[in-house]
Amino acid sequence: MLALHHRPERMLIPELAGHPAHLHIDLLPDWQGKGWGRRLMSALVDGLRAAGVPRLHLGMVSTNAPARAFYDRLGFVELAVADAGPVTYLGRDTSLLG
Ligand SMILES: CC(C)(COP(=O)(O)OP(=O)(O)OC[C@H]1O[C@@H](n2cnc3c(N)ncnc32)[C@H](O)[C@@H]1OP(=O)(O)O)[C@@H](O)C(=O)NCCC(=O)NCCS
Repeated sequence: MLALHHRPERMLIPELAGHPAHLHIDLLPDWQGKGWGRRLMSALVDGLRAAGVPRLHLGMVSTNAPARAFYDRLGFVELAVADAGPVTYLGRDTSLLG
């Protein structure tokens, strides 16, 4: 992780250039499945839209099926990235309602 920290250019993936905002979301178990994820994502998307950011992306471990179901529900679609390894990249437009 330290080596990655000193190589931030690894975040510059050409296929994601059209989705300039990047997000992470991780709720503690007691807070999952209660609508907080949707509310947090809504606040983020609203803020990005207000700031003029057109699209956002995230990278997730491809085997995380529950997270994928959540992102699918919120309108994210898969973004094709070459040599993505165990990661799936998803993105969406901020003009969709939060
Ligand atoms: C993934 C995560 C952010 C989702 O947040 P959450 O608060 O649990 O999700 P919400 O309760 O807000 O659900 C939002 C919508 O997604 C749907 N959804 C959420 N998890 C789902 C699942 N496992 N399967 C099917 N649908 C799911 C809900 O039904 C809900 O639909 P609705 O609002 O249209 O009724 C949260 O569970 C989490 O932090 N998980 C552990 C860490 C993790 O995997 N983070 C992602 C790393 S890439």
